[in-house]
Amino acid sequence: MKDIKYVGVNDYDIDLFEGQFVVPEGMSYNSYIIIDDKIAVFDTVDKGFKYEWLNNIKRELNNKAPDYLIISHMEPDHSSNIMSFLDEYPRTTLVGTVGAFNMIKNLFKTDIDNKLVVKDGDMLNLGKHNLKFITAPLVHWPEVMFTYDEYEHILFSADAFGKFGTLDSEDDEGWACEARRYYFGIVGKFGTQVQAALKKVSNLEIDTICPLHGPVLDDDLSYYLNLYDTWSKYEPEDKGVTICYTSVYGNTKEAIMYLKKLLEEANVHVSVFDLARDDEAEALEDAFRYDRLVLATTTYNQSIFPYMKTFIDTLIEHNYQNRKIALIENGMWAPMANKVMKGLIENLKNITLCDTEVSIKGGFGDFEKDQIRNLLKELK
Ligand code: FEO
Repeated sequence: MKDIKYVGVNDYDIDLFEGQFVVPEGMSYNSYIIIDDKIAVFDTVDKGFKYEWLNNIKRELNNKAPDYLIISHMEPDHSSNIMSFLDEYPRTTLVGTVGAFNMIKNLFKTDIDNKLVVKDGDMLNLGKHNLKFITAPLVHWPEVMFTYDEYEHILFSADAFGKFGTLDSEDDEGWACEARRYYFGIVGKFGTQVQAALKKVSNLEIDTICPLHGPVLDDDLSYYLNLYDTWSKYEPEDKGVTICYTSVYGNTKEAIMYLKKLLEEANVHVSVFDLARDDEAEALEDAFRYDRLVLATTTYNQSIFPYMKTFIDTLIEHNYQNRKIALIENGMWAPMANKVMKGLIENLKNITLCDTEVSIKGGFGDFEKDQIRNLLKELK
């Protein structure tokens, strides 16, 4: 990226990204500058990083002033510093979709005089760099737009292709691990819209992707594009079983560990989540990653245990589909968890339910082991 400077920031102290996602490796808020005859800045950063970000810009500009501030996305992790930027550079023109300018009014309670409202396909010339704006509604909010730099073949992709973690995080699990958790937690509901955006950029020659979170991608882009294609079609990425359970006194957990052992003996990949203790976003990520899902919970207040209720609601919200699901309940009297889970799952598209519904009567004994062995035949 010859003329592109990175001016984003790393957030090492954040506890919950977007108020809910644990980010043990922190988060980056990316911002870029194209320096040409005209100078364009791409996006601001989270509120707490005003001075660091403005200093980063100043460092790159050698007393010049930016001509444009391009607004890819108005969520406050990227837009919070628009007014601080305009205080510093009042003659800059803001560039964004009509939706972005409506949101500026809602967020900052003010109108912008110096603005360029762009539509899908509009162009902006900076000199050598010719920018094409590509609207990408609902990836992740309705006002989102990508920008394609025809000169250096760069796609500025807003939240798409983003990832949890600072740019210098020592997370050695590869890009996909935290990018997948990010995608399914944040963008995953909008698979149809992600598909539409991927289609729009499919004919572009792209050498580099500059997202608003996570690293700049400039190696084999087909790897990232193919994963986004799989994820946004709601297709499983890998074969395996994700088991999500709640257990009040350990008996349901015993059944789950027995099932896990049998599946592993049959060479099936298994990941297990205790929904009361493990990160729900990790559980959601693996539910989407693998092709089979086991839900196990207790009957509770004539319904199901709260963490399971929340998890199934989350699956519904994120349009979970195209998978096989098995149900396991526990109840010493009037068990009804399987019935309640089935009622909720009816809201999901293209789900195959296993015929075997395991019903644990309190403790885990021979009667329950037989049922788990029957279920195994359908899950292998
Ligand atoms: Fe990174 Fe949707 O904001």
